[in-house]
Amino acid sequence: MPIDKSQLYREINQQAQALMEGEKDLIANLANLSALLWMRLPDINWAGFYLLKEDQLVLGPFQGKPACVRIPMGRGVCGTAAKLETPQLVRDVHEFEGHIACDVASNSEVVVPFYTEGRLAGVLDIDSPSVGRFDQQDLQGLLTVVESLQVALG
Ligand code: SME
Repeated sequence: MPIDKSQLYREINQQAQALMEGEKDLIANLANLSALLWMRLPDINWAGFYLLKEDQLVLGPFQGKPACVRIPMGRGVCGTAAKLETPQLVRDVHEFEGHIACDVASNSEVVVPFYTEGRLAGVLDIDSPSVGRFDQQDLQGLLTVVESLQVALG
């Protein structure tokens, strides 16, 4: 049976809000969110965060294989999302100029920037071994999760 994505993201977002309720610690919330997304989203091989530090993205809490520690702004899918402050939905990472292959198993990717105090704080990054794994429903669902994160940190 195909999964009902809107239902799935509604549940994920409810769980995310419950996990972050009353908690403002950035690392604790990012750690629990990456664990939750890893647990609930099918067909993914990496889920986690990069944090903006000075002019680079630095690896934050995640689930999956060890990954590249630093990504310059504008480099790869994460650096592009951060530089443009625009989510990236990449159907096939091999067609994305400058994609950084942390895990050779990754074939598609979605990256969503997040903000603290109105300023870019980092990105949420999710990889999948399947080409075209992520669509607009995933992007909308993840934007909602990131919104809940920003509210919790607010
Ligand atoms: N593929 C990313 C790098 C991070 S890993 O996927 C965890 C990119 O191109 O920015």
